[in-house]
Amino acid sequence: MKILIIGNGAREYALGLALSSDSRVAQLYFAPGNGATETLGKNLIASSYDELLHIAQDIPISLVIVGPEAPLLAGVSDLFAQAGFLVFGPSQQAAILEGSKAFMKDFAKRHNLPTARFIQTSDLNEALDFANTLGYPAVIKADGLCAGKGVVIAQDAKQASETLESMLSGEAFGEAGKRVVIEEYLEGFELSVFAVCDSEDFVLFPAAQDHKRLLSGNKGPNTGGMGAYAPAPAATPEIMDTISRTIIAPTLAGMRQEKRAFTGVLFAGIMVVDSKPYLLEFNVRFGDPECEVLLPLLQTPLLDVLTACAQGNLKNLNVCFTQQSAVCVVLATAEYPYSSPKPVVIAFDPPSPQGAHLCFAGVSRSGEDLLATGGRVIACVGVADSLKEARDSAYLLCKSVHFSGKQMRDDIAQWALQ
Ligand code: AMP
Ligand code: GLY
Repeated sequence: MKILIIGNGAREYALGLALSSDSRVAQLYFAPGNGATETLGKNLIASSYDELLHIAQDIPISLVIVGPEAPLLAGVSDLFAQAGFLVFGPSQQAAILEGSKAFMKDFAKRHNLPTARFIQTSDLNEALDFANTLGYPAVIKADGLCAGKGVVIAQDAKQASETLESMLSGEAFGEAGKRVVIEEYLEGFELSVFAVCDSEDFVLFPAAQDHKRLLSGNKGPNTGGMGAYAPAPAATPEIMDTISRTIIAPTLAGMRQEKRAFTGVLFAGIMVVDSKPYLLEFNVRFGDPECEVLLPLLQTPLLDVLTACAQGNLKNLNVCFTQQSAVCVVLATAEYPYSSPKPVVIAFDPPSPQGAHLCFAGVSRSGEDLLATGGRVIACVGVADSLKEARDSAYLLCKSVHFSGKQMRDDIAQWALQ
């Protein structure tokens, strides 16, 4: 079987790594991939999705996996599905759950999903009045995709007014900010919950926790994610059952009812307040770095899970997970998340400690060298029988990777071990 993975991050590397050990997989292709995905398969260069479609037809590819949100929102799943490919990833119509926070909040209201009180509007006065009614802190969210920067927790009326003005005028995020959601601030702990779905049925992965802030102690700016671990001990069976019943199941039913049937990964950002889960946001893909800790826990071959979702027969598949834990620590360049540095050579101390492996993201190849080209460079993943051992081996692996300006958090998964 020849498989195409669209994307270029550590998430796509992790998907490729999990598939590469499956004897049914004859060849992996990445588009565009990165300097390390070439060791798992072939990188394809295409100047448009139409061109990529033609390349995939010539190969021919049997399964297309779409990693990031941007191609999903651009309708890449539809393009390939209409051409007869088996595709893992939601349609453009379904990807709106991530593409529009206003849609997602209205959907939550229509289907009685537990979520923070809100309004959505493009009117400055209406937005400010509602924020003042809620009191502070109040949460302001740009409607569209803003690369993880579209959420502001306003501490007072002045900050709310400045934020709303810069979003609604288009100054902050262009069209994506000209509509906003204003919502109640929820205080609790966060979980990332992933359901693989075939539009009717779904299977939950063990819950993960991300670390969005750049610096240890949850300080510094928000990033794509500096580390993750799973399973999160805070996600008790009762909480996971409530998330299944009150959030995931009604979402799949509601999406079918609204003719936006959802297949692929539904990623629910959850805030647990006094043991009750509330939906903060939906994403329509695996999280990065969450994917890197979830796939090693999957016992059932990933290929079977992805094809069952794409073919609509998930209910006939028994999806099992190991009892292990996984921890992932992201190594980023010094300038992350602000700018990209000059490429620098990465050096590795062989061999990797047992139970640990690397997933590559911002890297490119130059002859024999692997270069760090910016952003999140490498995810160091430890997998073990306990969270503590998994964490220890992830951090041991971090020490064996060297590049100038390397930065990482030193407190990934610490909260769970206290
Ligand atoms: P989102 O992209 O909607 O998940 O928001 C990004 C981050 O903002 C979340 O991971 C939370 O840390 C925070 N956040 C979003 N909505 C709320 C809320 N209603 N109350 C408190 N924090 C929130
Ligand atoms: N780690 C968060 C995300 O992938 O959106």
